Amino acid sequence: MMMDSTNPDNAASLTEQVTIPRKLQQQADEVQDHAWIEVIQRMDEIYADMVHYQVELEKKNAQLEEAQNFIQSVVSAMSEVLIVCDINGNIQQVNDALCNSLGLQAELLIGQSMNQLFGENYQAMIAEFPEHIRSGTLIDCEVELLARDGQAVPMAINCNARFDFENKLSGLVITGRPLGELRKAYSALQVAHEELKTAQQQLIQSEKMASLGRLVAGVAHELNNPISFLYANMFALKGYQKKFQQYIDAIHGGAEPKKIQKLREKLRIDKMMNDISPLVEGSMEGAERVSQIIANLKKFSTPQLQKAEPMDLVAVIHRAVSWVLQAAPISIEVHEDLPSSLKIDNHEGHIHQILINLVQNALDAMLQTEHPELTLKLDHQGQQIQLHIIDNGHGLEEKDLLKVFDPFFTTKAVGVGTGLGLSISYGLATEQCRGDLQARQHPGGGAEFILTLPLEDGA
Ligand SMILES: Nc1ncnc2c1ncn2[C@@H]1O[C@H](COP(=O)(O)OP(=O)(O)O)[C@@H](O)[C@H]1O
Ligand SMILES: [Mg+2]
Repeated sequence: MMMDSTNPDNAASLTEQVTIPRKLQQQADEVQDHAWIEVIQRMDEIYADMVHYQVELEKKNAQLEEAQNFIQSVVSAMSEVLIVCDINGNIQQVNDALCNSLGLQAELLIGQSMNQLFGENYQAMIAEFPEHIRSGTLIDCEVELLARDGQAVPMAINCNARFDFENKLSGLVITGRPLGELRKAYSALQVAHEELKTAQQQLIQSEKMASLGRLVAGVAHELNNPISFLYANMFALKGYQKKFQQYIDAIHGGAEPKKIQKLREKLRIDKMMNDISPLVEGSMEGAERVSQIIANLKKFSTPQLQKAEPMDLVAVIHRAVSWVLQAAPISIEVHEDLPSSLKIDNHEGHIHQILINLVQNALDAMLQTEHPELTLKLDHQGQQIQLHIIDNGHGLEEKDLLKVFDPFFTTKAVGVGTGLGLSISYGLATEQCRGDLQARQHPGGGAEFILTLPLEDGA
C-alpha cells in the first residue's frame, strides 16, 4: 500500500514513526561505542601481552644463545674427541678435537653414518653399539679411527646412551682419547727400560768379572789343594807300578817260589795292594772337588737368569769366605757362629756374589788392622734369616752409612775400588733374592753388614 504524505493524519503518525527509530538509533549508537571501547581495550590488553611475551621470548632467546655458546665452548675446549649420534648411528655433532685428530670438517660429517669414521676391523664392533646402548651397557674399548689420509688413529673410547627431555633414548655419545701419544710414550719408556735392564745386567756381569779378577788367587788356591793331592797320589801309584812290574816279571821269569816270596816282602807288595784302593778313592775325591770348584766358578761367572732353587746357605758362605781369604795378603782370624748347613730356596749365584763383595770389603777394611777378625753369625727372625758379617776394620762413618750403597761410591784408590760392589749387592738382595742388605757401625768398632733372606721360597 502506498502512503499519502499530504494527509494530516498520516503526517502525525509519521512524526511518531520517525521519533521512535531516532531513540533506537541513539541507543544503538551508545551500544556500538561501548563495544568499540571494549574492543580497543581488549586490543590494548592483547598488545600489552604480546609486548610482554616478546620481551620474555627475547630474554629466553638470549638465555638459549648463551647456553648454546657455553655448550659449544665446552665442546670445543674438550681435549677428548666427541661424536654425538642418533639412535641409528648417524652423526649429529662432533667436536674440534675429533676434526683435528682426523683432519676432517665437521660440516661434512653431520648426517653421515658414524661407521665411516672407524677402521675396517672395528666395523662389526661398532655395528653392535646401538644394540648395546639399548640394553644400557656402557662400552669401553680401544679402536682405530680413520683419518682423512687413511691413517689409523688409535683411540680409547667410551660409548654412552643419550636421552631426550622426556627421558627417551635418543642416541649415543662417543668420547675418546687418542692413544697414539700415550702409546709412543709408553713404547719409548719400554725401550728405555729394556736398555736399562741390559745395562744393569752388563754392570752386574762386569762387576762380577772384576771381583773374579781379584779372586783368581783364592780360586787357584782352592784348586791347588785337590790338584796337589791328586798329583801326590798319582806319583805314589806310578812308583807302585814299577814295583808291581818287577814282581810280575819275576813270576813270569819262572823264579822259585821262595825267591818270589822274598821279593814280595821286599817290595811290600801286600802293603801296596792295600794302599791302591784309598789312593784311587782319594784321587777320585780330589777330581770331584776340582770339578765342583769349576762348576761353582762357572755358576758365578756366567750371567744368570736363574730361578730360585734349593741351596745350602752355609756351604755358599764357606765358599765365598774361602775364595776371598785364600788370596788375602794378610791372615785373618775367622769366627763362625753358623749351623753345619742351612737349606733355603734362593739364587745361589746371586748370594755367592753378594757374600764375595761383603767379605772382600771386610778384608779391604782390615788391611791395616793389627789383629784382623771376621765374624759370621746367622740368626732367625721369624720366617727370615739374617747373616751378620762383622769386621774390625776402619769401620763406617755415620755420614757414609747410606752412601755406601750408591753406585760408584768408593773410598778406595782408583783401580782398587769401582764403588759398584755394594750397590749391585743391594739390588740383588732386595730385587732378586727377596731380602735386604743393611750396613751399620759395629759397637766393637769396624763395620757390620746384615744380609736378610727369606727362609722359604716365596715364588
Ligand atoms: N766392611 C767395610 N768397612 C768399612 N767400609 C766399607 C766396608 N764395606 C764397604 N765400605 C765402604 O763402602 C764403599 C763402597 O763399597 P763397594 O760398593 O763395595 O765399592 P768398592 O769396594 O769398590 O769401593 C767402600 O769404598 C768403603 O768406603
Ligand atoms: Mg767392594
